[in-house]
Amino acid sequence: MGKVYVFDHPLIQHKTAMIRKIDTSVKDFREMVREISMLMGYEATRNLPLEEVEIETPMCKTTMKMLQGEDIAIVPILRAGLGMVDGMLALVPNAKVGHVGLYRDPETHIPVEYYCKLPTDIAKRQVFVVDPMLATGGSAIAAIDFIKDKGAKNIIFMCLIASPEGIEALQKAHPDVDIFIAAKDEKLNENAYILPGLGDAGDRLYGTK
Ligand code: URA
Repeated sequence: MGKVYVFDHPLIQHKTAMIRKIDTSVKDFREMVREISMLMGYEATRNLPLEEVEIETPMCKTTMKMLQGEDIAIVPILRAGLGMVDGMLALVPNAKVGHVGLYRDPETHIPVEYYCKLPTDIAKRQVFVVDPMLATGGSAIAAIDFIKDKGAKNIIFMCLIASPEGIEALQKAHPDVDIFIAAKDEKLNENAYILPGLGDAGDRLYGTK
């Protein structure tokens, strides 16, 4: 079963509380989503593989540990996942970025794929699938299905707020995927929105409400 990591760092908790507030502006929301993603990314990249590399300091030659090559892919689930990409890229600027486009059918809540473009060498990469909200888990499960179909093997899922229902569904569908979340909320409402949540993450990122 994949592990679930809920971050208890005070900065992450504070910023996650701030983005929930109804009167947080689009600008502040976007900036804080970026900051939280970077803080979470710092922890989520903890197990990236290192290799011994020979370097020369002004004093002598030596061997040090450095990250192995350019072996990371970040895959936002469109469109809200885009808000988490810059924070991750600030940490791993050489990462490749794929995109998966899904929308939830407003009546059935079932995810429908409309776009999927991934790095061709996705199979070799540590893939970070990012989406701010893990609600029913339907979009995350479907996105990871598509990404695995294209060959990805090592996948981590990162979101800001998750429902217990979403975590359970994702763990059941993809037991090999570790889940990193900033906050675990109470439940879903009848429209599959997270409570207390923050509303629609895409609308709040892009000011479309
Ligand atoms: N997507 C969102 O943006 N918010 C929710 O609460 C659930 C899904």
